[in-house]
Amino acid sequence: MSVKLVIMVVYALSWHAGCEDTGFTYNGFRSADLSLDGLAEVTSNGLLKLTNSTTRKKGHAFHPNPIRFKNSPDGSAISFSTTFVFAIAPEYPTFGGHGLAFAIAPKRGLPGGVASQYLGLLSATNNGNLTNHLFAVEFDTISNQEFDDIDDNHVGININRMKSEISMPAGYYVGNKPFSQNLTLISGQPMQAWVEYSGSKKQINVSLAPLHVAKPKIPLLSLSYDLTPILEQTMYLGFSSATGYGFSIHYVLGWSFKIHGMADEGLDISLLPRLPRLVPKKKSKLLTIGLPVILTVSVLAMVSCVTYYIMVKRKFAEVLEDWEAEYVPQRFKYKDLYTATNGFREEKLLGTGGFGRVYRGVLPNKKTEIAVKKVSHESRQGMKAFMAEVISMGQLCHRNLVPLLGYCRRKGELLLVYEYMSKGSLDKYLYDDKPECCLNWSQRFQVIKGVASALFYLHEEWEQVVVHRDIKASNVLLDSEWNARLGDFGLARLYDHGTDPKTTHLVGTLGYLAPELIKTSKATTSTDVFAFGAFLLEVACGRRPIEPKALNEDLVLVEWVFSWWSRGEILQVIDPRLGPNYVAEEVELVLKLGLLCSLLEPKSRPSMRQIVMYLEGSMAPPELSSLSLSTAGLSGGENGGFDDFVVPLSSFGENTSSNWSSITNSIS
Ligand SMILES: *[C@@H]1O[C@H](CO)[C@@H](O)[C@H](O)[C@H]1NC(C)=O
Ligand SMILES: *[C@@H]1O[C@H](CO)[C@@H](O)[C@H](O)[C@H]1NC(C)=O
Repeated sequence: MSVKLVIMVVYALSWHAGCEDTGFTYNGFRSADLSLDGLAEVTSNGLLKLTNSTTRKKGHAFHPNPIRFKNSPDGSAISFSTTFVFAIAPEYPTFGGHGLAFAIAPKRGLPGGVASQYLGLLSATNNGNLTNHLFAVEFDTISNQEFDDIDDNHVGININRMKSEISMPAGYYVGNKPFSQNLTLISGQPMQAWVEYSGSKKQINVSLAPLHVAKPKIPLLSLSYDLTPILEQTMYLGFSSATGYGFSIHYVLGWSFKIHGMADEGLDISLLPRLPRLVPKKKSKLLTIGLPVILTVSVLAMVSCVTYYIMVKRKFAEVLEDWEAEYVPQRFKYKDLYTATNGFREEKLLGTGGFGRVYRGVLPNKKTEIAVKKVSHESRQGMKAFMAEVISMGQLCHRNLVPLLGYCRRKGELLLVYEYMSKGSLDKYLYDDKPECCLNWSQRFQVIKGVASALFYLHEEWEQVVVHRDIKASNVLLDSEWNARLGDFGLARLYDHGTDPKTTHLVGTLGYLAPELIKTSKATTSTDVFAFGAFLLEVACGRRPIEPKALNEDLVLVEWVFSWWSRGEILQVIDPRLGPNYVAEEVELVLKLGLLCSLLEPKSRPSMRQIVMYLEGSMAPPELSSLSLSTAGLSGGENGGFDDFVVPLSSFGENTSSNWSSITNSIS
């Protein structure tokens, strides 16, 4: 019987012991039967969430069953060990609420605990009471002066009161070295803590390490303390946490506890639930607002880049046809010409002629000064032949020609690039009333000889005959040394290539147009000589071939000169601005040649070869008799002719010839 009773007592005792756990493991809390209060809850994926964004509230989570810490009423506290993984996610990265604590207490849920700095453990009324029987390890993220906290990121062992018996900044030792690695509690990163008590040594050790780092060999906190008076026979274990005015969200991912033995053995880190993504609001903002904004901005940027590219392409577009391949060395990039002339600005405009506007510029790479002539053209027909001619003219090389450097072709536009002539065109020096603009006789004679030499070169010395078609003072340019340079040669050809005879234009300038040219519109070397004659008189007299402002009988220069010549007073026509500073023989020669070149009959006019010889004095000009003039006739200009460059042929009718004959009659 007694044996039976003993067995029954033992059974009863063991049954009673069965209610008190000696250890447990929670790899996540999904199926755990925790005792929760306050803000604490277990999320659907098994995270123990002790607090949320509610301020100044506490949250508790306790293992439901008591744990026996003493084997007999007066026995000493026995060894235990616990480990848990937690994370503290702050509202703001550098500022959070209060921390969390692991607690061993006589009652589940710490009924007297308040929020904020008390972490839900104690209150102002019971703080420090020996009857509290509270053992806690705090992970504190706020530095509280009233509890002598060392900093706002520390681990401490608390017994019955909020002031820690011992505390250290959060961190861990690596290996055996007394070297600590700091940890930030409110980093939101999961970390593992170990709390161990040795009943025999009466020592408490607390360690901390990032998740996946093994338990450090040297504990962070080590306190010799006999827990026997603190722990009662049976106690409850759990976590306590609180929010203050700010808040952090306190998570516990897993927890293991063991009387004796190592709690570590139970916890399986790979089974722990995942933490929610940190600061999810900001992430979603980046995705919902940031991403579309970035996308829109980049699309806009791309579109504007492409548009800009197309605009630049169009702006600098050129026309380059297959047949131009051989002229590529002479070609200029439109972009370069555009840059050289500052985008063809008005202030770069040198002048406007019949063929187009001329701009001054500086080539970016070579620093060469250039003059760019913009010639508009509509017909593409004949362009090839014309370009061939222009390019071949680029090969013309004479000290009295303006060098053509190259060209560029665009839709409806041809750009010819010439060397820049610093002194500008001759007409300015002949008609301008400013004294500094007046050329003296020797300069004028030099200019005449230069132009004659250039024309002789074009007519006879070059491999093919080039008819200039537009000799006049404004087409004679002066370089920095006052040398005459004939420009615009051959450009008149551009208008010759029109295919429709009705649109054929007569090219040249009234007053310089030979009468047969007006009738046939066929330019020859003789028509050039005729124009050169007008030019000679112009330079010597300082008067335009046709002077609209003059009295009627003096209107046509050649007639006026002739009338003085027939009176034997040819020197009377000389430009009065020259004063007495001239060589009479030279002036006389020039005026006589001017009249000879103006003869109505082309064959009677001298050739450029002869003119050059006369001017050089290597040959005497033929005598100009009134008889030869009356038979050959002298020609004047068309009444009311101005500086028009291109005159539609149709504007000259049959009465033109009668006009010429009337002039001829008047001379004879
Ligand atoms: C915080 O948790 C408590 C208890 O679970 C709940 O009643 C409250 O609505 C929660 N507050 C927020 C802001 O989630
Ligand atoms: C760790 O923190 C302490 C105190 O905050 C500081 O003095 C120490 O330099 C830190 N050590 C490292 C390695 O960051």
